[in-house]
Amino acid sequence: MKKVLIIGGGSGIGLEIAKTLDSNNCDVTCVGRKDRNNFDYNYVKCDVSKSEEVIKLFSDNVYDVLVYCAGIISSEEESHNYSEDEVNSIIDINLKGCIRCNQLFIDKCLENSISGKIINISSISNRGSKYFPIYASSKAGILTYTKSIASRYENIKANVISPGVIKTDMSYHETPNFDDYIPSIIENTPAKRLGNTTDIANMVEYLLSDKADFITGQEFVIDGGYTLPKE
Ligand SMILES: NC(=O)c1ccc[n+]([C@@H]2O[C@H](COP(=O)([O-])OP(=O)(O)OC[C@H]3O[C@@H](n4cnc5c(N)ncnc54)[C@H](OP(=O)(O)O)[C@@H]3O)[C@@H](O)[C@H]2O)c1
Repeated sequence: MKKVLIIGGGSGIGLEIAKTLDSNNCDVTCVGRKDRNNFDYNYVKCDVSKSEEVIKLFSDNVYDVLVYCAGIISSEEESHNYSEDEVNSIIDINLKGCIRCNQLFIDKCLENSISGKIINISSISNRGSKYFPIYASSKAGILTYTKSIASRYENIKANVISPGVIKTDMSYHETPNFDDYIPSIIENTPAKRLGNTTDIANMVEYLLSDKADFITGQEFVIDGGYTLPKE
């Protein structure tokens, strides 16, 4: 039974990944900042922006798979008004949190001779984003970091999934005026719909299967074709 750690598994895309992997006979542990009582899977409260909490998270357990899905976007639309604290927290959670968890996961894999798999969740905004430049930069960092470790560690397979717009709390509640953007997003998506959390979880399921054993250092864009050329 594969032991899977899902950072950001308490809600949205991460929770869907937990459901899918649990039904695939994995031993799933989810991680988040909030208290979650009566949660369906093993749950550990940990703030990935605090390195001492992340060190504790990895100290007692060895996992076969790491899924890094934690992320925040931002509360304001105009990035030149972001405070330094806001910039720091976006980078700290989205990028540095990912690096912290990946480093400790790899260290444990090497120590225990485990051929580990990593899936880091980026975003189609890693190509640049008009409204969310700091978020986009953090997601670009995840892509570059993942390709780099995939090339360095032969016993680790590390890949990135870059979702398009997926219906979750983040898209609806944390993105300012999200409802206003939906019609034009759908219009510009060849698949003519927003993404579902299952679209991402299905890709994770595939990447963790033996069928994906020759795949490492790649980015999988799951966006219904939204980023394809328009002309
Ligand atoms: N939804 C989209 O359209 C979309 C598109 C592209 C990429 N993504 C990416 O997909 C991932 C999941 O997002 P989502 O849409 O599923 O939103 P979500 O439901 O808000 O999930 C984000 C998760 O990150 C966790 N998290 C945030 N800060 C954390 C911290 N400091 N320590 C530990 N956990 C922390 C949250 O846990 P708590 O609730 O416990 O704080 C939450 O479970 C994110 O990385 C996001 O950037 C989403």
